[in-house]
Amino acid sequence: MDTRNTPDFVNWLRNSSPYIRAHRGRTFVVLLPGQALLEDSLASLAQDLTLLTHLGVRLVLVHDIHAQLQQRLDTLGHQLPQSNGMPVTDDTSLGLIREICGAARLEIEAVFSSGMATSAGAGPGLRLVSGNMITARPVGMRDGVDHQHSGELRRVDADTIRAQLDLGAMVVLSPVGYSATGELFYLDAGEVATGVAMALRADKLLLLTEGNTPVDTQGQGLEVLTPTEAEQTAASPSCPDELRQRLTDAVHACRGGVRRAHLINRHHDGALLQELYSRDGIGTLVTHDEYDAVRTATVDDIGGILRLITPLESEGVLVPRSREQLELLVDDFVVMERDGMVVACASLHEFSEAEAGEIACVAVHPDYRSNNRGEVLLQMLELRARRRGLRQLFALTTRTTHWFREQGYEPARLEDLPVQRQALYNYQRRSRVLIKPLER
Ligand SMILES: CC(C)(COP(=O)(O)OP(=O)(O)OC[C@H]1O[C@@H](n2cnc3c(N)ncnc32)[C@H](O)[C@@H]1OP(=O)(O)O)[C@@H](O)C(=O)NCCC(=O)NCCS
Repeated sequence: MDTRNTPDFVNWLRNSSPYIRAHRGRTFVVLLPGQALLEDSLASLAQDLTLLTHLGVRLVLVHDIHAQLQQRLDTLGHQLPQSNGMPVTDDTSLGLIREICGAARLEIEAVFSSGMATSAGAGPGLRLVSGNMITARPVGMRDGVDHQHSGELRRVDADTIRAQLDLGAMVVLSPVGYSATGELFYLDAGEVATGVAMALRADKLLLLTEGNTPVDTQGQGLEVLTPTEAEQTAASPSCPDELRQRLTDAVHACRGGVRRAHLINRHHDGALLQELYSRDGIGTLVTHDEYDAVRTATVDDIGGILRLITPLESEGVLVPRSREQLELLVDDFVVMERDGMVVACASLHEFSEAEAGEIACVAVHPDYRSNNRGEVLLQMLELRARRRGLRQLFALTTRTTHWFREQGYEPARLEDLPVQRQALYNYQRRSRVLIKPLER
């Protein structure tokens, strides 16, 4: 079939199909910065969120009000002092918070109503539901400072939220909670989003940001972080405050059972869609590593790697590798461990002159497949390749072509490989060649 004249959008839609399938029926919690409610771009964001729900995603939206509160406090010449890294919310500030939250919810309802008219057309649109689903407790007295109306998240009414999601509604929550005594407390919106994501065992926490993204020491954007790496990045003195808060939220969420937390620049039009429905997301992904730590292999892992790959070598799925070969190449390998057992491995072998890298020996233990481990390993190696300045990755496989294609690899010719690799090609095995260019 000649696909040269196929419109871009057709290809885009086709390529997004695995993601649409993967996200259908999943629960995502989205944190929206307060500044977003003050800008026209809210309309396109609402349209994208509405589209997510049409694609079967169950959404909880937590909005922040920090920007609005600061604006109002500045106008009044009033301060919201901080103590122990938390605000001290007095009566005046609480009065403003009530007004701002009320206005914010109305604003959100309005923009989603207009979103229905323009994007969904006729028919029932997206229903928004808010309510007293967050129980709070006072921060209280800390180091002799009474934090007054500042609160902490105590409990999330996950059953009610789930019931609303089951009915097809989007749940909208403000950064406030109610105590058992009927008092209102001001909460940190990141804490609310994280707590709700954990209580719902959400599949993703989507943290929209004002554009701060984590970078490595060379200034390169970091696309995938383990919670430990995210924690280290947040601890750096050069980390901007907003980024520190969002990374900390992501770490809490991942350690609390949320599979993935994404930091996404809300100023990039369509960022949510690109992050969720394309191979090359544009945000930073923090994924839990507590149970399956991904790390560079050491000689101590060779026994575990051999146990994992030997059955696949016997089946002819993987090319046989001796213990000696593995010892020589062990630095090329990353492994995932669970309970001290190597459950997955993959390697990146560099062809520096050609600025290319070969992905090989990707293996996930049969009991642990279909949980994205293979995908996460590839992402780790891709990150490693980008950091080393490689321009393309390639893989040779006899049976896993489709899986690699789903990971963004395209069929290629033998001549497209580095010359040194072409010389090693096994004509009896007749592996297919797949290439993924790495854009800079
Ligand atoms: C390929 C492999 C690494 C994927 O690991 P994984 O952790 O299960 O991968 P993911 O969870 O990211 O992806 C799983 C999806 O890929 C699909 N998949 C697995 N192997 C596939 C193959 N050979 N062709 C097409 N799709 C495949 C699964 O069916 C699953 O799809 P689903 O979610 O619709 O059920 C794993 O199946 C494996 O170890 N296979 C044997 C070794 C191998 O073939 N290695 C590649 C040669 S280098």
